[in-house]
Amino acid sequence: MTSPVFSSFVLPCGITLPNRLAKAAMEENMADAGQIPGAVLLRLYKRWAEGSTGLLITGNVMIDGRAMTGPGGVVLDKHSDIAPFEAWARAAKQNNTRVVMQLNHPGRQVYAAMGGDVLSPSDVALDLGKHSHLFSKPRAMTLQDIEQLIQRFADSAVKAEQAGFDGVQIHAAHGYLISQFLSPLTNQRKDEYGGSIENRMRLLIEVIKAIREQVSATFIVAVKINSADFQRGGFDADDAKVVVLAMNELAVDLVELSGGSYESPAMQGNTADGRTLQREAYFLDFAKEIAQAATMPIMTTGGVRRLAVAEEVLAQGIDIVGMGTALALNPALPNDWKKDATLSAHDPMVRWKDKTLSALATMAVVKRQLQRMGNGKPPKSNVSPLFSLVSDRIRIKKLTTRYKRYLANR
Ligand SMILES: Cc1cc2nc3c(=O)[nH]c(=O)nc-3n(C[C@H](O)[C@H](O)[C@H](O)COP(=O)(O)O)c2cc1C
Repeated sequence: MTSPVFSSFVLPCGITLPNRLAKAAMEENMADAGQIPGAVLLRLYKRWAEGSTGLLITGNVMIDGRAMTGPGGVVLDKHSDIAPFEAWARAAKQNNTRVVMQLNHPGRQVYAAMGGDVLSPSDVALDLGKHSHLFSKPRAMTLQDIEQLIQRFADSAVKAEQAGFDGVQIHAAHGYLISQFLSPLTNQRKDEYGGSIENRMRLLIEVIKAIREQVSATFIVAVKINSADFQRGGFDADDAKVVVLAMNELAVDLVELSGGSYESPAMQGNTADGRTLQREAYFLDFAKEIAQAATMPIMTTGGVRRLAVAEEVLAQGIDIVGMGTALALNPALPNDWKKDATLSAHDPMVRWKDKTLSALATMAVVKRQLQRMGNGKPPKSNVSPLFSLVSDRIRIKKLTTRYKRYLANR
C-alpha cells in the first residue's frame, strides 16, 4: 500500500501539491554577488526537485537589502532584475514540484558585523548572554517605517509571481521582524501595533492583505508562525490560536507551525523556558491543537526524520509535513522512502555545553550540505561540527565583506 504521505493535496487557491512533503525554508547564504540567485542555488534546487519533495519553500529571501539575516542572502525588491529569479523558479519546478518563496525581514536579528538597518517594534536588544554583543540594539519603527515595510512585502510577492514562483510564504516565526511584533517581550509599543494580541498581529494581517490584493487568486499565500516562542512571557499557543482565527478570514493557503527564536532555538528542539518538546515532530501537539481553530491547511516542521513520523503527523490531522535537516542530508528522501519505508535521515544535532554554539554548529553542519549540493557534490553526514562551524565563520566573514560593498553601492 502506498503511504498517505504520497497522496496529492489541493490548496485553497487551486494549486495541487503532488504529495504531502515540503522542504521547509533553509537559509542557504549562497547568493551570487549582488545578492541574487545564481548557478549554485539553481543546482541545489534542481537536486531537491529531482528528489520528489512536493513543495519546495526557498530559504528566506530579504525584502530589503539593508536588512539581512545573513550576508549571503538573496534580496528581491521592486528594482530587482527578474531574470535570475525566473531561472531559480524554473530549476525548482522540474519534476512537477511546486515552489514557494519565503519572504522575510530580520528586524533586530541582524549580526552587528554586517551593518544595515536594525529595526524592531521597540528598541529591545537580543539577549544571548555572553554572545549578545554580536547583535546591535534596534531602532523602534515609526508608523511610516511600518507602512513602507508592508509595501515592500507586497512588492516582493508581486515580483515572485512575475518570476514564475507558485507562491510566497510570509515569515512570521523564529523571532524575525513580524514575530517580534507578535511577541509581547519585543513589542512594547503603545500604539495600535502593540499591547493586545489583536494589535500585535496587526502588522501580519496587513501584510497578508496587501499581498493578497496585489497577486492573483491562484497564487499561494502561506504564512509561517510560531506555535509558541518558548520564552516566559512570550507569544504562546493561545496567541497563535487567535492569529489563526484571524487568518481564517483571509485567503491564506497554508499555515506552517514552528517555534522559537535566536534566544530560544525551539526549532532545533531546544527551548529557553525549559519546556520539553517531542523528540520527533517537535511541534505536533501544539499544531494539533492550533489546527482545530484553523479552516486553512496546516503544515508543521521540526524533527521529522522518518516516514512513520511523517505518517503520524498526517494521522493527527495535519495536512503537510515540513522537513529541513532531513532533506539537507538526503535530498532524495521522498524517492528513497518509496523504496525503503524504514529509512531514517541522519540527525546532525550537536550537543555541546554552550547552547548557542551548539545551535550554530548544528546549523553549520546542515549548511555545509547545502553548499556541497550547490557545488554538485553529494551530502556528507559525518562532517566534523567544529570544522564546519569554523569554516562557516570564515565563509561568513568573506561574505560580510562582499555584502558591505553591496550595501555601500546601493
Ligand atoms: C541551515 C538552516 C537554515 C534555516 N533557515 C530558515 C529560514 O530561512 N526560514 C525559516 O523559516 N526557517 C529556517 N530554518 C528552520 C527550518 O525551516 C525548520 O523549521 C527547522 O530546521 C526544523 O525542522 P527540521 O528539524 O526538519 O530541520 C532553517 C534551518 C536550518 C537548519
